[in-house]
Amino acid sequence: MPLHFLSQSDLTPKTIHALFERTTVIKGERLSDALLGRSLVMFFEKTSTRTRLSFEIGMTQLGGHAVYLDRDSSQISRGESVADLARVVSRYADLIMARVYAHRTVAELAEHASIPVINGLSDAEHPCQSLTDLFTMLECKGRLEGLKIAYLGDGDNNVAHSLMLGAAQVGADLWIASPGELQPDTWFVDAAAKLSERFGGTVTVTENIDQAVEHADVIYTDVWVSMGQESENERRLELLRPYQVNRKSVSGAKPDFVFMHCLPAHIGQEVTAELAYGPHSVIFDQAENRLHVQKALMVYLFESSRGGE
Ligand code: CP
Ligand code: NVA
Repeated sequence: MPLHFLSQSDLTPKTIHALFERTTVIKGERLSDALLGRSLVMFFEKTSTRTRLSFEIGMTQLGGHAVYLDRDSSQISRGESVADLARVVSRYADLIMARVYAHRTVAELAEHASIPVINGLSDAEHPCQSLTDLFTMLECKGRLEGLKIAYLGDGDNNVAHSLMLGAAQVGADLWIASPGELQPDTWFVDAAAKLSERFGGTVTVTENIDQAVEHADVIYTDVWVSMGQESENERRLELLRPYQVNRKSVSGAKPDFVFMHCLPAHIGQEVTAELAYGPHSVIFDQAENRLHVQKALMVYLFESSRGGE
């Protein structure tokens, strides 16, 4: 059975830390032949800049190559099943990465694939992002345990969900400040609580921005309207307007806080230009780290699927 990475919680804290050590090495060496001659198939139902580029360039830098497939130009658009896609890709390639609308699609790919499947974003989670975010926090702050992270904005969101699981796993204290209607899915609140009990992190959901931001080491936000939610645009903007990351909302954070955003950003909505491009911002280091972390992840999943050979 291959190992898959569909959820942030698919990796144990021990594996996360080992991956981060490997990421540091990979970041320093840039090119290697760790996946020489190997192939990654990338299946996209939604648009992407960072995910596509970092996976494709990452495979090249590891000596392999990546194939881009989307719904419209593949036989999926004419009714071929996701199960058959998984079976066929498994005969050609060594890894699959998929960006999908419904999380069940990536779960179905994993169910029928005989090679590792990576979730490149679903409606429920964005685990490649949360893994990268934790690595970036570790780089910036030198620790994860006890770090206070304040996430402002849409809590019922793939990025927030994965971050909740990840923070709990590494012993960080995550505060999600969101309006009542857009707080995280209860399944993730419960899952994060269970992980917190085991690994010592905490996840607190509140409507109170000041409480969430007070003495925070990291301020994080994501878009207010995620891919596929365009019809909810007006309502979301109205609900989320008070949760903007701006000079006033971050005033209670530690003086050396870092600002993070998974990108793409909507400047003037979830964050002001002053914060996104100001001295506290690490958004482009964060984007760069997608490349390094995912290279380590692909090598780990590939080696694990081969029994560590
Ligand atoms: N953060 C992220 O996943 O970016 P893309 O949507 O551009 O891939
Ligand atoms: N929550 C955003 C993340 C984009 C990387 C979305 O799903 O559109």
